[in-house]
Amino acid sequence: MYTPSSTRYSEMQYARCGRSGLLLPRLSLGLWHNFGNITPFDTQQSILRTAFDHGITHFDLANNYGPPYGEAERNFGIHMDRDWHTHRDELIISTKAGYDMWEGPYGNFGSRKYLIASLDQSLRRMHLDYVDIFYHHRPDPDTPMEETMGALDHIVRSGKALYVGISNYTAEQTARAVSILHDLGTPLLIHQPRYNMLDRWIEDGLTDVLADCGVGAIVFSPLAGGRLTGKYRHGIPDDSRISHDPRYLRADMITDALGTATDALTEIAKARGESLPQLALQWVLRSPVITSALIGASRPQQIIENIGVLRFPDLSDAELEAIETILSTYQSEVAL
Ligand SMILES: NC(=O)c1ccc[n+]([C@@H]2O[C@H](COP(=O)([O-])OP(=O)(O)OC[C@H]3O[C@@H](n4cnc5c(N)ncnc54)[C@H](OP(=O)(O)O)[C@@H]3O)[C@@H](O)[C@H]2O)c1
Repeated sequence: MYTPSSTRYSEMQYARCGRSGLLLPRLSLGLWHNFGNITPFDTQQSILRTAFDHGITHFDLANNYGPPYGEAERNFGIHMDRDWHTHRDELIISTKAGYDMWEGPYGNFGSRKYLIASLDQSLRRMHLDYVDIFYHHRPDPDTPMEETMGALDHIVRSGKALYVGISNYTAEQTARAVSILHDLGTPLLIHQPRYNMLDRWIEDGLTDVLADCGVGAIVFSPLAGGRLTGKYRHGIPDDSRISHDPRYLRADMITDALGTATDALTEIAKARGESLPQLALQWVLRSPVITSALIGASRPQQIIENIGVLRFPDLSDAELEAIETILSTYQSEVAL
């Protein structure tokens, strides 16, 4: 029997998601890794409990998180039954559809057929009546955006999701999605793009669109999957993502340029009394457009360390400038 910490709301900060009424925690927890069939159930449970005990009220999933596809949602359904149904109204649970999920022409991309069927499957796997946020996971070049947004609008009206979001859409695609959804009467709540010190594509137009349209942003992989923690500085540790689940993060993504950059960033973090992951999180949260940083964790201690970022003061202009210099040197070396 799980009894959440009575101090769970004392440490976390909550930010308004765009111009909506919804508050999200500044750090949210994603279940992309560490919730499939290669992670012990007890580990999953202690990650979720630790997150909630520290005020992380938002858990993010997708239809194909695993391995295998669907497994993170299936496991989450068991966690729901054991720990979370009694706290359902304290939680924001999201899922997505847009990548390959099942065989044949209806299990991928952005048709109305796929999105509605996929959400029905997700709800069954997670033992939920509704999700708080349903996302279209990536833009579909071949389905008219009116159809995809029409499906999102229908999903909200049918009560299966309270809000809708999009993920990985460009600035231009986002502006169109906002406009179509606005005309349908279902506002776009949130965008979920990748954003971290190594990948700053959203600064090139997307953040302006989100600010102008009053749409929130929850940024994924703020630690670049672990590359911004310093853990790979002296090789690949056995208990790291690259060792235990190298589906997306590979050893060839650990470069000398990354090592030089993380060494220099670590010096800035140390001078502030922080760890490198805390500095990396603070950096993504510096922009008022960013509602929440969507972290992953392979163990509870990482969540506790990462939440510690909220105790530190904002980065000064001088620190931001020093970080900028390190990141532009890194980018020019990567571009060579
Ligand atoms: N919309 C999309 O297309 C999309 C795509 C990707 C992700 N996402 C979402 O974003 C979430 C987070 O992505 P992510 O897992 O790549 O985020 P991340 O926060 O960049 O990386 C998390 C990983 O870094 C390591 N880590 C975290 N804190 C640490 C610490 N304090 N010290 C040392 N290592 C630490 C852990 O890996 P190890 O300990 O295993 O090394 C952890 O699993 C996903 O779960 C998912 O919800 C969305």
